[in-house]
Amino acid sequence: MLYVTRRETFNSAHRLFNLDWTDDKNLEVYGPCSNKNWHGHNYNLFVTVKGEMNPDTGFVVNMKLLSRIIHENVIVHVDHKNLNLDVDFLKGVIPTSENMCVAIWKMLEAPINILGIQLHSVKIQETEKNYAEYLG
Ligand code: NI
Repeated sequence: MLYVTRRETFNSAHRLFNLDWTDDKNLEVYGPCSNKNWHGHNYNLFVTVKGEMNPDTGFVVNMKLLSRIIHENVIVHVDHKNLNLDVDFLKGVIPTSENMCVAIWKMLEAPINILGIQLHSVKIQETEKNYAEYLG
């Protein structure tokens, strides 16, 4: 079994807040990410797939194809968008990196399986220092 990873990037606005909490509680939990007038992040999305190497190509997957799947199913929906307001597949969830990983997994699993390989992990890097990773 071999694992290969594609990195894609997107830029989005969001606000982390829980409607059931006061502004003070949201500020305490989410810090500056709770700012009511939004803010942005330059996100890195790492998609790792696993499978056997095709002996003819030497590839587990053609990265151009994997990139296209990630763009069509995820990037076009989130890039230069407001994650709280604009993204159907994030409706009803607080757009933390954790929730984004789970939601993006659901968007990618089926189209990646069609290629005859498996999704292994979805990792979202929101800042230089913070990652979340979902293994399904
Ligand atoms: Ni933030």
